[in-house]
Amino acid sequence: MSENNEKKVHGIVAEYTSVDSLLNACRRVRDAGYKKTDAFAPFAVHGIEKALGIKPTVLPWIVFGCGAVGAIVGLTMQIWMNSIDYPYIISGKPMISLPAFIPVAYELTILFAAFGAFFGMWALNGLPRFSNPIFTDPRFDRVTDDRFFLYIDAKDEQFDEAGVRQLFGDTGTEYIQTVVDDDSSSKVPKGFFIAWAAVIGLSVIPVLVVLKMRLTKSSLPRFHVFFDMDFSPAKDAQQTTTLFADGRAMRPDVAGTVARGDMLIDMDYMTGIDMEALTQVDARRAERLVRSFADPSPQQEGEQPPVADTEETSAPAEKTAEETGVQEEATGETESAAPAAAPSVMDTTPWLTQNPLPLNKQLLERGQTYFGIYCSVCHGLNGGGNGLVNRRAQKILATNWIPPSKLNQPTLAQDVYPDGKLFNTISNGIRKMPGYAAQITTRDRWAIVAYVRALQQSQNASINEVPAAEREAILKQQAEVKKQLEEQAAAEAAQANAEPGDN
Ligand code: HEC
Repeated sequence: MSENNEKKVHGIVAEYTSVDSLLNACRRVRDAGYKKTDAFAPFAVHGIEKALGIKPTVLPWIVFGCGAVGAIVGLTMQIWMNSIDYPYIISGKPMISLPAFIPVAYELTILFAAFGAFFGMWALNGLPRFSNPIFTDPRFDRVTDDRFFLYIDAKDEQFDEAGVRQLFGDTGTEYIQTVVDDDSSSKVPKGFFIAWAAVIGLSVIPVLVVLKMRLTKSSLPRFHVFFDMDFSPAKDAQQTTTLFADGRAMRPDVAGTVARGDMLIDMDYMTGIDMEALTQVDARRAERLVRSFADPSPQQEGEQPPVADTEETSAPAEKTAEETGVQEEATGETESAAPAAAPSVMDTTPWLTQNPLPLNKQLLERGQTYFGIYCSVCHGLNGGGNGLVNRRAQKILATNWIPPSKLNQPTLAQDVYPDGKLFNTISNGIRKMPGYAAQITTRDRWAIVAYVRALQQSQNASINEVPAAEREAILKQQAEVKKQLEEQAAAEAAQANAEPGDN
């Protein structure tokens, strides 16, 4: 105890083991008239501020004051800037337009109030405070665990060591200790001030630079940290440039591209219909078709791309029967034809009679490939209508199966079933056959049309249709095949005759 006398006394602390004893002690200390007191507990103790006689905090008033200042600053700033310093009419509003000023004023109110709450709390609590002399007491560590402490500061007007000890002694505490300075130096290290001064010094530099720029004049161009588009080499029409080898600032269209909205759609090619003629017979349908190709945007996701007969692909179900009726004119396939409900209407569509693509070997080969991929599964590789799917359907005796049409039947010949119609059948399907516009490109659909024509011709061809120059070779080849077959047959016959002898 005696050594403590040399050090400065900060106050006296007493330890308690329960909330109740702490609250009791608090009340007695309060009633004894002490003001500079503090209680410490491991958790928040309800009613302790009352027991200690602590007055409600003034923090709300600080926050309110700061908020009010923020609102006033926000409003005055805007009124000053917008209607006095630089009067400027915005959106035809009056110079002082409160509704327009509210967002900024509101934000500043919040900002200032938040600052008031944050810094006010620090100030009222005497923060930042890096150390408290009470920490020197080794028993005080338990305040975060299971002990309660009551402290009377030496700065209290009524403070007198003996009296306080007496008071604490009456409150049933077993531990009373005088709080004195600890041994360590209370001096802040010098390095801290040096670093602090350096930070302050550096932070002044930007302000000085800005000030200098505001207050002095210079003939030098503005200093650019970021160039952005300040120096964009924008050109006017017909000007020259060094940027491109041809020296022209106006650039020609990129080869093979079409600007949006500038697409010239060859409607005949896309639909297989002579659109000019269609306009004569059914302007409404022609217009709808054009629209569906010109602006495919209203199409929903997953829907097929625009195809020739929009009525069929985009119309709701009940409409389809009526619209597809146009296609369901007699093809001679009555036995596998449309459901009874669908009316049989004469097809007045002016189909293209000619394939718009130039016929050549390459196109036919393309058509053959795609016919093999998409059509042969049903119609068979030779177009005879007996593809794998059909064979399977027959095998399992599928009841609802409509056999695929024989493509070489007379009703599908070019003179009665125009190329355009065949193209449309591939694109949009017909009756039980699905459309393939979504899978096969327009060009490849026309290639298939060309190939189907070749296929049809191949089934009923005579040697006279072959160019004279090639007839010779074909006849020779035919004779050879025939000879081979005969030899084969003869060999087989001989073998068959020989077999019984062997046994
Ligand atoms: C999934 C099987 C299937 C595929 C694949 C298929 N078709 Fe068909 N096709 C049919 C059926 C079934 C019919 C008969 C429809 C009916 O009468 O209801 C038919 C009918 C036809 C007809 C006759 C149309 C008419 O007006 O009578 C043509 C031509 C035709 N298909 C061409 C093709 C071509 C070309 C392809 C390849 C792009 C193809 N089909 C792919 C099943 C198919």
